[in-house]
Amino acid sequence: MGIINILDTQTANMIAAGEVVDRPASALKELIENSVDAGATSICIEIKGGGRGFMRITDNGSGFARDDMPKALLRHATSKIKTGSDLDGVMTLGFRGEALAAISSVSRIEIISRRKEDELGTRLTGDENGIVMEDTGCPSGTTVIIRDLFYNLPARHKFLKRDSAEAAAAAAVTERIALSHPEIAFSFTSEGEKKFFTVGDGNLLSAIYSVYGRGLANGLKEINYEIDGVSARGFVTTPDNARGSRSLQIFFVNGRFVRSKTVMAALEEAFRSYLPHGKYPAGIINITLNVKNTDVNVHPAKLEIKFTDERKIFDAVYYAVKNMLTQPEHMPPKESEKQHNHTNPVYIHPSPPKNSEGNVIGYEVFKPDTGEEDLPVINLTTDSTMILKSPLTELTPEEKKAYKDSKPTETVLFAEEKSYRIIGEAYNAYIFAELDDKILVIDKHAAHERVLYEELTDKKQVVAQQLLEGITVTLPREQSDILSANLEYLGQYGFVAEPFGADTLIIRAVPSVLSNTENIESLFEAFAAKLSEGNALSFTERVDRALFTVACKAAMKAGQKNHSVHNEWLVERLLTGGDIRYCPHGRPVIKILSKREIERFFDR
Ligand SMILES: Nc1ncnc2c1ncn2[C@@H]1O[C@H](COP(=O)(O)OP(=O)(O)O)[C@@H](O)[C@H]1O
Ligand SMILES: [Mg+2]
Repeated sequence: MGIINILDTQTANMIAAGEVVDRPASALKELIENSVDAGATSICIEIKGGGRGFMRITDNGSGFARDDMPKALLRHATSKIKTGSDLDGVMTLGFRGEALAAISSVSRIEIISRRKEDELGTRLTGDENGIVMEDTGCPSGTTVIIRDLFYNLPARHKFLKRDSAEAAAAAAVTERIALSHPEIAFSFTSEGEKKFFTVGDGNLLSAIYSVYGRGLANGLKEINYEIDGVSARGFVTTPDNARGSRSLQIFFVNGRFVRSKTVMAALEEAFRSYLPHGKYPAGIINITLNVKNTDVNVHPAKLEIKFTDERKIFDAVYYAVKNMLTQPEHMPPKESEKQHNHTNPVYIHPSPPKNSEGNVIGYEVFKPDTGEEDLPVINLTTDSTMILKSPLTELTPEEKKAYKDSKPTETVLFAEEKSYRIIGEAYNAYIFAELDDKILVIDKHAAHERVLYEELTDKKQVVAQQLLEGITVTLPREQSDILSANLEYLGQYGFVAEPFGADTLIIRAVPSVLSNTENIESLFEAFAAKLSEGNALSFTERVDRALFTVACKAAMKAGQKNHSVHNEWLVERLLTGGDIRYCPHGRPVIKILSKREIERFFDR
């Protein structure tokens, strides 16, 4: 006698349920999505016991035909597709026909539903004893009640968190669907307490306001861009409102919440020169494109998506965000527009840090607390052979290939070998260099500003250069107080100072990139002034702003003559230092003229 059993449907469904519903929040997600697919304009959600004990989803959508109700509990039963080829253009959130089968196999389910055209509604109850149906009076639409989720899977309970954590996960799922459908009114109640509701007026910002509150909503700016049939719309934080984690990066594709590394990379790449390490933009971004260019059938919970052309998605998001950031009101103020009384320090010699010197002190760079993250940090700078690198380092090989194939070829700027040659400088502002088959035109000030900024903020190690003689600075009381209270912290950035009587500090060391700058005193004063500005910002953000100012002030000035040695140092730094394309203000640093372009111009 053989030993293989064919499992009965109930057991098979229970096994399959593990994939679709692993916790109350994932069951809730499926049920709310069904209401959305049913064309509801209002969806009320109520849960108890974190959703494990009780979940009720009430919608005013199409309702079930009576005959369909028991069918809907069967596996692979769906009204949304008929054949495999329909998968190609699926517009609804559901299509797998699995959710109700899975959920009903691991809970006690009740569905009360009526179509508008039917006089009487139907109540279906399903549990371990089977299915019972009866007529009932009810409003048009559908109510699904789930009780005792996982009652017959005791092992599953071990993996569930406390009720409060499960309730939070259920709220998060509801929030995302509410944001992806601002035209639907949602309300979410847990343990009898109404947690949030949206009005369903179709306005995304008002939905964000309802879900996340004024604090986030006020720090957002609209983005809107379309390229090659792909549009990216939504709201993104301005640099001032960046956050300590990625938890509020929320992406939708054609109204479906997805996790997408491409979208994340595009968002963060656009912010690259605007934010220090450990800060992340937040944003609610809705991407729309022809559904034929997507594949949502790659993940049981449909949380992932494939695009036929990742590059287009990247570009749409990147430019949408970049356009917002480069609008004048979001650009950090230009140095010339700032008010200060002291004269600019004259740039003397941009020397690289010298580690081997006896009087050099090494400091670990300070890393701000990045908080909780649900996605791994993408390291955007692993490949040192490229300057204009693909930010998509965490994509799968296929995704990378799709991206590479569509990528213009001339983006690789530099390889390890020192293969460039400086041709000269024009207007004391632009350095011309030849590299392989390209001519690089480098904006001297912008490039130096960025190199300094990177050195001051971005390095694994900040080197503090001891000054031969301490420099005393007397500051307004407010500024000296802030500095005195944070001396240890600032030391981690290479600024070493000690109190020296009332309102006066003595500077012992500065970051070594600044050590040859003339007039360190005025640079330090500008640093202190910037640190005490912007009460709404965290201290880390203010330090970043202050370093930004320091980089700008210490950088070579356009129109000012420099020794060729300095230009050489700068070009070397720029071309070997990694991914530098924009100055900290977001303006480009390098213009590339290809040999082909030049030859074409001369009709060669
Ligand atoms: N709230 C609802 N209102 C109307 N019909 C529903 C609702 N929920 C489910 N249905 C019907 O039940 C079917 C099965 O649902 P489900 O198991 O979630 O599979 P899917 O959503 O993938 O089609 C759906 O295709 C739909 O016809
Ligand atoms: Mg469904």
